[in-house]
Amino acid sequence: MLDFAPDDDLDRDFATAVLAGLSAPQMVVPARFFYDRAGSELFETITRLPEYYPTRTEIAILAHHSADIASIVGLGRAVIEFGSGSSAKTPPFLRAVAASAYVPIDISTKFLEMAAADLAAKLPDLPVLPLSADFTRPLTLPIGIAARAKLGFFPGSTLGNLGPVAAVDLLRAFGDTLGDDSWLVVGLDLRKDTAVVEAAYNDAAGVTAAFNFNVLRRINAELSGTIDLAAFVHDARFNHDLGRIEMHLRAVHATQFTVLGRRFALPAGATIHTENSYKWTLDEARLLARAGGWSPVAVWTDATDYFAVHLWRRDAAPVEP
Ligand code: AVJ
Repeated sequence: MLDFAPDDDLDRDFATAVLAGLSAPQMVVPARFFYDRAGSELFETITRLPEYYPTRTEIAILAHHSADIASIVGLGRAVIEFGSGSSAKTPPFLRAVAASAYVPIDISTKFLEMAAADLAAKLPDLPVLPLSADFTRPLTLPIGIAARAKLGFFPGSTLGNLGPVAAVDLLRAFGDTLGDDSWLVVGLDLRKDTAVVEAAYNDAAGVTAAFNFNVLRRINAELSGTIDLAAFVHDARFNHDLGRIEMHLRAVHATQFTVLGRRFALPAGATIHTENSYKWTLDEARLLARAGGWSPVAVWTDATDYFAVHLWRRDAAPVEP
């Protein structure tokens, strides 16, 4: 089908998704492509911006309540982290729940190697079994933890990148991966004052804009793109009907370009949609859990109600007559 020969699976995935996304009436590029090395570094910078409240708020909630989580789920479970990145925030959590093993799952092998080395130094007695995989696809956990009780860990409001249908599918897949008698800790950004959310995605230093533009830079560099970056502006706004922040790259004037030899054109004002970040209320999140095969058991928020850390238990398989 495709008239090019990408050198690895990731390139093919990127190429296929970009060509399909730019061919849609509303152009899209999936948010997962933000995270090459440069994009991952920009995201790390975002997490430290004064306007970007989610990361520090979630870390504070976990610092206060990991012991509560441990007292509910019990000590010594194997912790499976979905999309672990650098695992930078995980060691205190692993200590609090006295993890008997840790399985960081991430697409980036570089991040997994860094995380394993860092954890070997911080928690020398903890068996770390990294899994290089796309957690949105079916997974097989390392054989070494098959017999252990499991605790899924999905912080960072990563689930917020997905709409309700995809989020339910993912939560069901997590249940299949983690198995019976498992628990899941999920960090989700809360619905709040629009000005606060929009400021978090329109920081004064322009780091979020650079993060957004990074995907165009990647298309130019990796897919022989000819996109004129100066024709676009960063656009991040809260969509009240759908309860999500949307990030777009908006063409300020009509522009055209090629990607892998294919022509694309945008009229002035048209956008490439690059990310959704859903902001779930507590009730919506609990409904999402139930639809995804999990029972909400506990939830902790910060004093400003900016962010929530949910604890869900896997529903027992129904007993069939
Ligand atoms: C990593 C998906 C949680 O949606 O807030 C930060 C990504 N995008 N600034 C988010 C992001 C723009 C972030 N998540």
